[in-house]
Amino acid sequence: MNQDELKALVGRAALDHVVAGSIVGVGTGSTVDCFIDALAGIKSQIAGAVSSSVRSTERLQAHGIRVFEASEVESLPVYVDGADEIDPQGCMIKGGGAALTREKIVADLALRFVCIADASKRVDVLGRFPLPVEVVPMAVAQVRRRFAALGGDARVREGVVTDNGQCIVDVHGLRIAEPLAFETEVNQWPGVVTVGVFARHRASVCLLGTPEGVQTLRY
Ligand code: A5P
Repeated sequence: MNQDELKALVGRAALDHVVAGSIVGVGTGSTVDCFIDALAGIKSQIAGAVSSSVRSTERLQAHGIRVFEASEVESLPVYVDGADEIDPQGCMIKGGGAALTREKIVADLALRFVCIADASKRVDVLGRFPLPVEVVPMAVAQVRRRFAALGGDARVREGVVTDNGQCIVDVHGLRIAEPLAFETEVNQWPGVVTVGVFARHRASVCLLGTPEGVQTLRY
């Protein structure tokens, strides 16, 4: 199976975690696109979705799935999203698609985070994938200096403006051995909107696409 087939496999497998009659939290990315397409097949069994990006909203609506605002719901049973990396504790790096802020907002509404990923996303320690951070443009220079002090090389993602009108820096060269402490620290820095470490909102379960089939990892 190639990577696209593995994404389709885990996208379909995530349907088993959707609660009938509920509103589903929906992430962003190529793996989630597969999940949305699978969700369309059971759309009569759900009330709708809360989306984490313009991209996912458009795909959901194209399938005729009702999209609710995050402010319209108090909680969601399940949030389904991909990841750029996932460690043995279910902590993740996310934001490769620049949607990390809304992803964290929707994940925060959910009781369970179901991560869907192909096996290449599994790592022992986070940081090989450059860490995305959404930053208010005025703060970029200072945020870059702070990451340099931690040994990271923060580079502005050229030509990208997020759905929230901010910019993204990608931080190379980090080794994030303590994701929760790291996320807590970077969250304190003025001008940081969202850091792409998901430790407070780590996965409850990961459906990992492998050549042997879907491996279910619980945390
Ligand atoms: C979007 O901002 C990201 O957090 C995605 O969830 C992540 O990049 C995974 O994307 P793919 O499913 O396309 O690999």
